[in-house]
Amino acid sequence: MMNAKIKTKFKFQKKDRVTVLTGAGISAESGLKTFRDNGGLWETHQVEEVATPEAFEKDAALVWRFYRQRYLQLADVKPNPAHFALVDLEKFLGDNFTLITQNVDGLHSKAGNKNLIEMHGSLQKCFCLSCQQKFLMSEINLMKKVPSCPVCKGDLRPDIVWFGEIPHHMDEITLRLRHTNYFLMIGTSGYVYPAAQFVQIARLNAAKTIGINLEKPLNSSLIDEFHQGKAGLFLPKLIDCWLNKN
Ligand code: APR
Repeated sequence: MMNAKIKTKFKFQKKDRVTVLTGAGISAESGLKTFRDNGGLWETHQVEEVATPEAFEKDAALVWRFYRQRYLQLADVKPNPAHFALVDLEKFLGDNFTLITQNVDGLHSKAGNKNLIEMHGSLQKCFCLSCQQKFLMSEINLMKKVPSCPVCKGDLRPDIVWFGEIPHHMDEITLRLRHTNYFLMIGTSGYVYPAAQFVQIARLNAAKTIGINLEKPLNSSLIDEFHQGKAGLFLPKLIDCWLNKN
């Protein structure tokens, strides 16, 4: 399977607009756990225990302990060939390339992607619940159980979009989806909205849709060309084909 020849019916040209949506699966080969491949457990926690505004209200110290660990863990995590393949794609397409990620791990930036929308926020950032100012995690005192704002001393919270909250940059995302020629979804299970709906918006606007995932995602019926397997193995080869490199 690993050496199987990859087949695709698509070729990209520089004038094509390509929008990519990534999820936890693209970072799996970098050693980060996905959300739904471990019986609903995320690093031994139920997502509801740590990833909701209610959880933060109930036990801010527990939620901070969880995200502090996730943030510190990132120092040792590196992008994998799937992340780097998307950098090649952006180099070819320039401003016609948009990368939307649900991931908060920063690996797309580390790899070198520029035209990037982090719709679920970022582990590198936090913001003050009182004055709303944003800070880099590296700028604040992370030793406190619930870190406080360097400006007004209010409570800080991780800049993560939790369940029940509205993702960042939805207007820009919708605009990009309406004008895209190709929509690629990589390493995402299709369980979480609104991201799970992007493929449908793109299709309604006549985009061709492509999926790469270890298992069939929930919304696979909306994908024109599906490649089942690991993103780190498939994506570099597919991008070579789409860019006519072989
Ligand atoms: N290559 C490609 N796909 C993979 C790989 C891999 N190496 N490893 C796992 N996958 C697939 C899994 O089969 C699964 O379908 O990636 C998908 C990951 O799905 P989820 O864990 O549900 O992650 P995601 O879709 O990103 O979750 C969306 O849910 O918990 C919230 O806010 C959180 O952003 C997250 C959102």
